Amino acid sequence: MTMSVRAASANSAETFNYGVVRQFAIMTVVWGIVGMAVGVLIAAQLMWPQLNFDTAWLSYGRLRPLHTNAVIFAFGGSALFATSYYVVQRTCQARLFCGPLAAFTFWGWQIVIVAAAISLPLGFTSGKEYAELEWPIDILITLVWVAYAIVFFGTIMKRRSAHIYVANWFFGAYILTIAVLHIFNNLEVPFGWMKSYSAYAGVQDAMVQWWYGHNAVGFFLTTSFLGMMYYFIPKQAGRPIFSYRLSIVHFWALIFTYMWAGPHHLLYTSLPDWTQSLGMTFSLILLAPSWGGMVNGIMTLSGAWHKLRTDPILKFLVVALSFYGMATFEGSMMSIRTVNALSHYTDWTIGHVHSGALGWVAMISFGSLYYLIPRLYGRQSMYSTRAIELHFWVATLGVVLYIAAMWIAGVMQGLMWRATEADGTLTYSFVEAVKATYPFYGIRLLGGAMFLGGVFIMAWNTWMTVRRATPVDPPIGADVPAPAPAPAPQPALAQA
Ligand code: HEM
Ligand code: HEM
Repeated sequence: MTMSVRAASANSAETFNYGVVRQFAIMTVVWGIVGMAVGVLIAAQLMWPQLNFDTAWLSYGRLRPLHTNAVIFAFGGSALFATSYYVVQRTCQARLFCGPLAAFTFWGWQIVIVAAAISLPLGFTSGKEYAELEWPIDILITLVWVAYAIVFFGTIMKRRSAHIYVANWFFGAYILTIAVLHIFNNLEVPFGWMKSYSAYAGVQDAMVQWWYGHNAVGFFLTTSFLGMMYYFIPKQAGRPIFSYRLSIVHFWALIFTYMWAGPHHLLYTSLPDWTQSLGMTFSLILLAPSWGGMVNGIMTLSGAWHKLRTDPILKFLVVALSFYGMATFEGSMMSIRTVNALSHYTDWTIGHVHSGALGWVAMISFGSLYYLIPRLYGRQSMYSTRAIELHFWVATLGVVLYIAAMWIAGVMQGLMWRATEADGTLTYSFVEAVKATYPFYGIRLLGGAMFLGGVFIMAWNTWMTVRRATPVDPPIGADVPAPAPAPAPQPALAQA
């Protein structure tokens, strides 16, 4: 059947499957609160260790991986499921392939998250960062992920247009790569129900772990969210993507380069020297596709810059891109051996992580969800535009406080640790550096609490938007409601 015949025969009774998108969208907000609340708790524990209440499962070492898993896989993952399922349906003009399998991805993913939330505080861990979950949970993740791939690529297969929109390329690459990374990094020998040993040993284990770890950043926290960017920025700005050609170059250059950069996590270790140099070189090259993508996103606003004044959703999306640019520039610099000699082990790394995680990942997710939620519930816009504006400012200020505090603390720690006297003895003891860091932990805690406060505002706004709404699954081919006109200034939040 030719494309045109396929288009003509589009079954007018068939609707988009928004049900699973709604489920993931709502859970993004829920897990955002949970994951970031744990982040705020561990930030507070670094100031007041007694906040672990002498309870093993509230100890820092167990809650830290709970935080990272919750924010990356529960919050970020749910946002990605929601947006990729929405985008692939809209751009392919096709209902999600195999509804029951899509439902399985939702429930399966929630079970994975709950299993993580129970097993990590209980102390079950494989000890590999961002891959801490034990082998039975790893198997469930694999099943969910294979189902995800079938649903996503199945929908692409039944598309009603010849073209595959670029956002789907990014989502598709992330789904495939995460499958490969997850399977190979988690090859392990079970030793009881919740204990296993890695199939790799020594430096090979480290190498595989950071090939995984870096590409988890590269594909779970970057390539996928660029998929979001390529759909939601043009939509919200009401402009076509700045350069389609650049988006294709961006895609191939990014996915090729990311794969090689992992060793920058292992500089000055027993990893062979040439591998470290290779990692550093590719990390520097990575700046080009990263900034190419950022420029493509930002320039999409050409002719629509004035909208930034009044549209807080666009503010979220564009500020996210600015943080993306900053975090990638910083990352490339930190990959240079001499810079890494200063930054490694310090809070500078934590600052870098959160300028990417809060500034890029969370902000682009908030912007995309504010676009998405009203459309999923048949509304013209979110309940309160003023609340989105407030969320934007609280979040932006929160990130800035968080990362500025960590940068200053990190550079200070690095300099204090390496300072020596004329006779070669250390100028500062370790505890002096800890003491000097203390005020900055306070500023980070304040910034983090503000950022979390913003998510509470979002939760309230979401609740008010959806509570009396009737969820709609529009027929395929029907237009999405036009974005609400620029909001008029509203007198007070409560009336908004
Ligand atoms: C309210 C917001 C947040 C707060 C207060 C917060 C706080 C923290 C704290 C205190 C740590 C441990 C730092 C250390 O060990 O020295 C941490 C680690 C981490 N957080 Fe967050 N976080 C927040 C949001 C997020 C989000 C949204 C993400 C990802 C999307 C994220 C990803 C991570 C990662 C990957 C690490 C581990 C970093 C590393 O090992 O170098 N965080 N966070
Ligand atoms: C061009 C892009 C990037 C490069 C070259 C890069 C490079 C680096 C380097 C050199 C480190 C420090 C390694 C160490 O000393 O241990 C690092 C850590 C990290 N980066 Fe990036 N980065 C980039 C972008 C990003 C983005 C956009 C995010 C988040 C969305 C991110 C998340 C992380 C995380 C989570 C870590 C901590 C890993 C750990 O030790 O647990 N990076 N990155």
